Amino acid sequence: MIELYWKNASDRVVPPEHGVTAEDLERLEEPMRRTHAAVCEQVRSGTLGYAALPAHRDYPAAVKALVDKYRANTTDLIVLGIGGSALGNIALQTALNGAGYNLRSDRKRGGPRLFVLDNVDPALVGDTLALLGRRLGTTLVNVISKSGETAETAAQFMIVREMLRKKLGGDFARRIVATTDARKGTLHDIAAADGYATLVVPDNVGGRFSVLSPVGLFSAAMCGIDIDALLAGAEAMRQRAETLPWRQNPACMLAAISFLAATAKGKPIHVMMPYSNRLGGLADWYRQLWAESLGKRLDRAGREVFVGLTPIKALGATDQHSQIQLYREGPHDKLIIFLEVRKHPRDITVPDVFADAPGLSYLRRTKLSKLLNAEKAATEYALAESGRPSVTLRFNAITPPSVGEFIYLYEFTTSLMGELLEVNAYDQPAVELGKQATFALMGRPGSEELAAEIKPFTSPDPAYSA
Ligand code: PA5
Repeated sequence: MIELYWKNASDRVVPPEHGVTAEDLERLEEPMRRTHAAVCEQVRSGTLGYAALPAHRDYPAAVKALVDKYRANTTDLIVLGIGGSALGNIALQTALNGAGYNLRSDRKRGGPRLFVLDNVDPALVGDTLALLGRRLGTTLVNVISKSGETAETAAQFMIVREMLRKKLGGDFARRIVATTDARKGTLHDIAAADGYATLVVPDNVGGRFSVLSPVGLFSAAMCGIDIDALLAGAEAMRQRAETLPWRQNPACMLAAISFLAATAKGKPIHVMMPYSNRLGGLADWYRQLWAESLGKRLDRAGREVFVGLTPIKALGATDQHSQIQLYREGPHDKLIIFLEVRKHPRDITVPDVFADAPGLSYLRRTKLSKLLNAEKAATEYALAESGRPSVTLRFNAITPPSVGEFIYLYEFTTSLMGELLEVNAYDQPAVELGKQATFALMGRPGSEELAAEIKPFTSPDPAYSA
C-alpha cells in the first residue's frame, strides 16, 4: 500500500513560513470537505471518466482478447503516440519491466520488445525503425490517438504503415492496432477503411488521465504486465480516496499540502524525486498531469488568474549531484515529493574489497538498496535542515498494484487541486495554438490565414542575430 508521509512538510520540522501548521489545516477544513465532496460527487455522477476505469470490465477484456491474438506471433511492439497517448505506456513499462527489458532474450522476455515513439525526431524514429530489420514482419504497431489527427503521431504512422505495406503487401493491416475514438476521427476512419483491429480511447477520459484505459493497458499486457493487478491497485486507491476522512486520506493530504505550499507558503515549484530509476517514468507522467491540468489563465468563472504549479522531475541519487545545491540554498519556492521504495525489484551487495581503504569500509558488504535509501533520508534531512519542506510517497515494492495505486492517487489529487484552485483541470486550451500554428507552417489546407499571421514572426531578423 502506498503511504504518504508528510511530517517533513510540517512546522514540526521546518519553520512555519515554509511548513504546514495546525492552523493552516484548520483553515482548510471546510474548503477541503467541500472539495472532497464535490469530487466524490463528480465520480458518482460519472463526470470524471477516469474514475470508472479501475473497475471497468469491458476495456481489459478487449485488451486481453487482442493480446491473446498477437502476443505469440509478435517479436516487437511499436507504440506511436504522444503526450497522454505515450507517457503512461512508458511509465508502466519502465516501472514494471525495467529499462533492460528490451535487451533480454526473446525467451526471457516472453513478450515483444517495446518501443514507444513519442517524438518526430527523425534520428529517434530512424534509429528505432532500423532496429527492426528482419523482424518487421513480426512487428505489431499500436497507433494511439484520441483525436485521430495529432501531427506527430500521424506523420509517424504514415511512415510505419508504408513500411509494413511494402513488406507485407495486402496483409499489412493485420499488424496494426489502432487505439482511438470509438465513433469518429481521421484515425478511426482510416482503421475502418484499412481494416485494423481497434481499441477504444473512452470519450470522457482526457489523454493525460487515460493510462488505465486501453491506451496504457494494451502495451503493458503485451509485455506481460498483470493489468488486472494494476487496475485492482487503482481501485483500492479509489476506495481509500473516496471514503477516508480527509486528514487520513492520502489524496486529500497530498492536495492540501500541495495547495498550501503553492499558495500560503510561496512554493509553486513541485519537484518529484524518485529514488528509483524504475519510477522515473511515473515522474514524467506526473509532470504532464500536473502541468496541463493545473496551469491555467482563467478560473472557472472566467477571471484571469494565471495559476499553476510547475512540476519538475529529479532522480535520486543522481540529481543530488546536480540539483540539491539549488534546492537547499536557492529560492524558497519548492516542495519536494520523494518517491521511496522499501523493497527494490532487485538488490546487489557491494563486495568485501579494499580492506585497506578505511574511507570505503562503510560500503563493504552493504546492499545498494540500503545505500540508495540512506541517500534519500540524508537528502530529506539536509533539506529540512535548510527549512525546505518535503513529503514522501512510500512504495513497499514496485508492483502492478502499487503502480495502479500511485496513478489513481495522482489523478484524484489532481481533481482535488482543480477544485481548490477553482480551475478546469480537464482542458488544455493553451496547447491548441501551437498545434494550429504547426498546421499553418506545414501548409495544411484551411490554415492560410494563420500562416499569413505567423509569417512576420518566423521571418528571421538579422538585427537580433549574434
Ligand atoms: O493529455 C492530452 O490531452 C494530450 O497530451 C494528448 O494526449 C496528446 O496531445 C495526444 O493527443 P491525441 O491522443 O489526440 O493524439
